[in-house]
Amino acid sequence: MKRISAIAVIVMAPLLVAALWMDRQPSHRAYEGPAPATPSDSVPVSGREIIPPEGELRNPVPPSATSVTEGKALFDINCAMCHGLASAEPGRVGQRFKPPPPGLGHDMLKGLSDTALFRMITLGFGRMPPFQDKLDSLARWKLINFLRTRQ
Ligand code: HEC
Repeated sequence: MKRISAIAVIVMAPLLVAALWMDRQPSHRAYEGPAPATPSDSVPVSGREIIPPEGELRNPVPPSATSVTEGKALFDINCAMCHGLASAEPGRVGQRFKPPPPGLGHDMLKGLSDTALFRMITLGFGRMPPFQDKLDSLARWKLINFLRTRQ
């Protein structure tokens, strides 16, 4: 038993000594300038999603039949309760809103750019909740592909 603890002390000692110096390393402290540059391909994982200005955003998902079908499934789950399965009548939740949410028919949507739609879905719009933390950005683009086919 004594021998085992002696071995343990010998094994642990360098680790404990190393732990004493652990904070002496080239790391950046809070508020210490100059701030290190962010790696070019990094993606923010917290805070607000940054959406570039009008015109700079391109839908990365081609409007294939599969993406439209997936977009419709996402719409039925996340949007139809307010905006209605068909654009003519609001959904069960939407009927409680005064005035009710717009039906998102073809005529109204054609006046909205992809960027505008993406921004509304991501950040919310008036009484509509944001979907930033509920749907990843590809899902939001698939939804837009579906909305473009909606009558
Ligand atoms: C809780 C109900 C609710 C849900 C869920 C909801 N919306 Fe909305 N949405 C609204 C309301 C209400 C408005 C109108 C904004 C206002 O009047 O404040 C709106 C507005 C919009 C508009 C803007 C139309 C315009 O006036 O320019 C779009 C586009 C839209 N919603 C798309 C969606 C999509 C896509 C989803 C699903 C991801 C969704 N909404 C989910 C309630 C909802």
